[in-house]
Amino acid sequence: MTMKRMKTLLAVACLACGGTAVFPAEEQPLYRNPSESVEVRVADLLSRMTLQEKILQLNQYILGENSNVNNIGEINSSFIPGLGSYIYFNSDARLRNEIQRKELEVSRLGIPLLFGFDVIHGFRTIFPIPLAQSCSWNADLVRQSCAVAAREARMSGVDWTFSPMIDVARDGRWGRVAEGYGEDPYTNGVFAVAAVQGYQGDSLTGSGSVAACLKHYVGYGMSQGGRDYEATDISAQALWDTYLIPYEMGIRAGAATLMSAFNDIGGTPATANHYLLTEVLRNKWGFSGVVVTDWNAVEQLMSQGVAADRKEAACKAFMAGADLDMKDFCFKDHLEALVTEGKVPLARIDSAVARILALKFRLGLFEQPYTVEVPDAKRVLLPAYKEVCRQLAEESMVLLKNEAGTLPLRKKNVAVIGPMADDRENLLGSWSAQGRVEDVEGSIYENLRAELGPEARVTYARGCAFDGTDRSGFREARKVARKADVVVVCLGEKKSWSGENASRSTLALPAIQEELLAEVAKEGKPVVLVLSNGRPLELCRVEPLCDAIVEMWQPGIVGGKALAGILSGRVNPSGKLAITFPWFTGQIPLYYNSRQSARPLQGKYQDQPTVPLYEFGHGLSYTSFEYGDLQLSADTIRRGEKLKVEVRVTNTGKVDGKETVHWFVRDPVCSIARPVKELKCFEKRTIRQGESQTFCFEIDPERDLSFVDSDGNRFLEPGTYYVMVKDKRVCIELLE
Ligand code: BGC
Repeated sequence: MTMKRMKTLLAVACLACGGTAVFPAEEQPLYRNPSESVEVRVADLLSRMTLQEKILQLNQYILGENSNVNNIGEINSSFIPGLGSYIYFNSDARLRNEIQRKELEVSRLGIPLLFGFDVIHGFRTIFPIPLAQSCSWNADLVRQSCAVAAREARMSGVDWTFSPMIDVARDGRWGRVAEGYGEDPYTNGVFAVAAVQGYQGDSLTGSGSVAACLKHYVGYGMSQGGRDYEATDISAQALWDTYLIPYEMGIRAGAATLMSAFNDIGGTPATANHYLLTEVLRNKWGFSGVVVTDWNAVEQLMSQGVAADRKEAACKAFMAGADLDMKDFCFKDHLEALVTEGKVPLARIDSAVARILALKFRLGLFEQPYTVEVPDAKRVLLPAYKEVCRQLAEESMVLLKNEAGTLPLRKKNVAVIGPMADDRENLLGSWSAQGRVEDVEGSIYENLRAELGPEARVTYARGCAFDGTDRSGFREARKVARKADVVVVCLGEKKSWSGENASRSTLALPAIQEELLAEVAKEGKPVVLVLSNGRPLELCRVEPLCDAIVEMWQPGIVGGKALAGILSGRVNPSGKLAITFPWFTGQIPLYYNSRQSARPLQGKYQDQPTVPLYEFGHGLSYTSFEYGDLQLSADTIRRGEKLKVEVRVTNTGKVDGKETVHWFVRDPVCSIARPVKELKCFEKRTIRQGESQTFCFEIDPERDLSFVDSDGNRFLEPGTYYVMVKDKRVCIELLE
């Protein structure tokens, strides 16, 4: 055996026992040296790789048992040497470590694998769904929840989450509305930043962080008719002033990766869109992270009719700017031939590989390819994690209606009725990663009993299932209601009714649930409706029958307790809607920041209301807040200057409460029609009973008064602007 061969074997053996090859000092390659910069390490490693090795890095496959609703049950435990990445479905690190070890045993250069997973609202500690989270208006809590999710995931073998989803979504029929932060671009942007900070922390290295992924770039929330995977038609103007906004904010916050979407925009699929993936993302915004395609999105270019075969699909997606091919192996199977044919330049291969390697270096995978295996009890569901979960659940629930102070409950003889009343599973919510029913800390009924204590009488009847036509439980439900002083009716959606591939044609609850409510209401007792769902609902037939309504969303593992606290008054509700509730499904699209109408007083529906039932920002409290007039530090402003607007908010009720102030801006006259109002800033604070606090919005004209045109250029036009909070409004003049 030659000396050289022996050294290679030694290096390989060392990689196998920990991935840190020990080269004799003079032969230690630069890329192995953690004190070198990521750039130097990437360049060095790249220079040593063959084309085949590079191309394999550009592919991702699956490992373990898939829990994605779309492909449920699919299992893979096979290992493809040299591949760049896997989606890791298992709940602990064992299989990851096993496959990582196999990889490092055969990898000529010791390149570790990267493992990703959809950690959407928690890994094992399941938080409220993102749509609910945005209703908390508490970005710091959302950041904390993502930090918890990151720690649990990383310690379980996951380096990278495919989250946050920041598709502005204005059509509740689309099942994935549950996965994002609602209808407003700025709100999605603020929570994107919070999520990126929470997932990634200060550094990607170590057991406390995972790489974040902004998805689905872009426009996926506009699937026609709310039908998943459909085409979208988005004007260049709307693309820039609405759909791209959160992505730009997330990228500025340092998101490590981004996922291209399934949909096409005006005929060009997002995964083959050079303008979006290269001109905007790379050239304009300077994004240097990894672009992963969505699941099979390369191959799907054939279904979308823009590629005749997998090879053409690979060429289009790759040359548009996608780096990593999720699941369908189009890159693996065709990039080499495309390079040979001169259709794909080597430099493009190198730039994609360099980004994937850089991510692996940043995650510290070359130094620490294995996950330290720790038992569940030390890794997931820790009390501190559940505490964040509790707070977020409490703050995200929205009190939609409360006639005559029905809530908090004063009576101790309570009937809890409905398909959601004693259900644990659906509290987990849509796409709940490794969440388990047994982790859910009690149903609504169980928690309310515990909350109200032994002196209360809390009875239960299911009444009916989530859907179907079986009315046989109605009689028992009425009987239970008759004997109670107040009835809490718990209706809603199963968790599988939201998420991917879970569109619905209507926002209405199934008729059987509406009927149950109507039956129970006949008993004449005060009715509190509790809703658990993943989208805004059509409540027109339901709302008049209720004295109070609480939207609890799909609140995660401690949601039952959070709700019980709100019902009893131990917790004062503070959530406000981040998405509009229309009266009727037929009003869709209906969102607060539509552009100004040509005839604002006309054009209404003749048969139904045109305004929403509950508008964006709506949410009640057990206390009352009074707003003073808006105070300006000056009423004129020039470019480069700042101006302050303040509002004094007083808690005039009988209990402490949390209030969110939403600051809107309107540009009444501009060279293009602008929205009736646009959210530019929000802040949530606790205000004690009787206390007044001053909230302040510092206006930066370039940021807050400008608009972006259909080419993505920002303009700032002199003139009058309105600043608005609730029904208060002031004018400011931007001078030439
Ligand atoms: C979804 C993505 C997800 C991916 C991987 C796709 O079907 O659209 O959101 O990240 O699967 O699970």
